[in-house]
Amino acid sequence: MTDPQTAETAIPWDTLAATATEAMKRAYVPYSKFPVGVAALLDDGRIISGCNVENASYGLTLCAECALVSALAMSGGGRIRAFSCVDGEGNTLMPCGRCRQLLYEFRAPDMVLMTVSGIRTMDEVLPDAFGPQHLT
Ligand code: THU
Repeated sequence: MTDPQTAETAIPWDTLAATATEAMKRAYVPYSKFPVGVAALLDDGRIISGCNVENASYGLTLCAECALVSALAMSGGGRIRAFSCVDGEGNTLMPCGRCRQLLYEFRAPDMVLMTVSGIRTMDEVLPDAFGPQHLT
């Protein structure tokens, strides 16, 4: 079991929140007016980010996490060690259920998230997850 406290010491949470807040400012949200920004620390030390992009066909909205996992693939792949999601005020926001699944796919074994109830492991925010392990 991962100890979130141990992980916390090595993770630049302030930088992640600031990067997510900068990404949030690029959100395209004419419909919901609810900008979201996300940032992740990867296992090789890189930090990537993303924002939400809405569409006139509302159901096609791309959550900020969609941009993040695309950025992950496009920048060479890797695993997410730590994740931060913020709203339009820069306050911590919980990733939606679908996006927890997106993040789960690319988690490092000790991945942690900043949440409204503190630092949580991936397993805590998506218990008993379905994942790649079920398809082998
Ligand atoms: N949204 C995200 O980008 N990520 C989440 O995890 C929660 C919701 C976006 C989608 C939509 O553009 C807006 O927030 C309101 O639902």
